[in-house]
Amino acid sequence: MIRSAITGSGSALPQRCVSNEELARQVDTSDEWIVERTGIRQRYIAGEGETTSSLAIEAARKACEDAGIDSKSIDLIILATATPDNTFPATATRVQDALGCNGGIAFDVAAVCSGFLYALATADSMLRTGMAKRALVIGSETFSRILDWEDRTTCVLFGDGAGAVVLEARESDTDGAGVISSSLHADGAQHELLYVDGGPSTTQTVGHVRMRGREVFRHAVVNLAQVLGEVLEESGLSIADVDWLVPHQANARILDATARKLGIDPERVVVTVDRHANTSAASVPLAFDTARKDGRIKPGDLVMFEAMGGGFTWGASLIRM
Ligand code: COA
Repeated sequence: MIRSAITGSGSALPQRCVSNEELARQVDTSDEWIVERTGIRQRYIAGEGETTSSLAIEAARKACEDAGIDSKSIDLIILATATPDNTFPATATRVQDALGCNGGIAFDVAAVCSGFLYALATADSMLRTGMAKRALVIGSETFSRILDWEDRTTCVLFGDGAGAVVLEARESDTDGAGVISSSLHADGAQHELLYVDGGPSTTQTVGHVRMRGREVFRHAVVNLAQVLGEVLEESGLSIADVDWLVPHQANARILDATARKLGIDPERVVVTVDRHANTSAASVPLAFDTARKDGRIKPGDLVMFEAMGGGFTWGASLIRM
């Protein structure tokens, strides 16, 4: 049996860090309000020349280096983003060209904040069926470019960044490492609660993020607890077996509520929302890379990813490192 093992990770952030205090000089908000309601203290905002592809390329290069592989040997790139460089072609093809692995498979997936979970499950399926052997799964976003900077209810919540993992097909008896189970969902009836009010086929503009935050919050806690229960049940493992929960970093209060509902020790939850804010599809791989590089996540650990985003879409994966 083939398993897809994570053999490396990398991440990238724009140069400019914007604190809540700095934001409060431009928008009618305060550090106190943002910290109390979301746990966010700062975010990184892309400047001139920094794009979804440039961040993705940096994260991907670091992931290949971390895995100790030549980027030319990558035969599959799946990039999750809601903020591509261009409407087409896929931003993944820019990454492919920069890495010099032209000729393999490269495409984007659009599942907003759950994008990395959708990309990971897709890459896992493709590796297990033999379509590819060595994949890069990337989440990269420049959400700052689709924010309405006059809307204080959304613009304080998001940031830019990228995270990437190398996923390699291996015989499952090598060391037991790999994706154990994944579960994905979508509910198109909830479109109006979180969406962008533009697009090539409707307004011929990029549009801005619109959100009914309170309702999103309510759905997030219910959907995430459900999908996390599913991946555990499918694997025959329990929450007590999980070493690290790496959740989508939207809001510290959602993280707390989900951890409570699951019954996991808050010390086992990786939190980076204070530093990165919500980086949409980049948030899970960014948090994962942070916890791997600071030594928390180690070989052999059981790690659970989860995310929920516009659509709604939501998903989870259970991985043995
Ligand atoms: N600064 C100061 N005040 C703000 C503000 C800001 N940035 N944004 C909103 N407010 C005000 C509102 O105008 C409102 O004022 P009012 O009572 O005078 O009308 C008040 O704060 C409360 O607003 P409300 O939207 O009810 O706050 P909330 O407690 O629900 O918190 C969110 C707002 C967005 C932080 C919260 O709903 C949330 O986190 N939702 C989930 C969002 C999310 O994670 N989305 C991404 C999923 S991928």
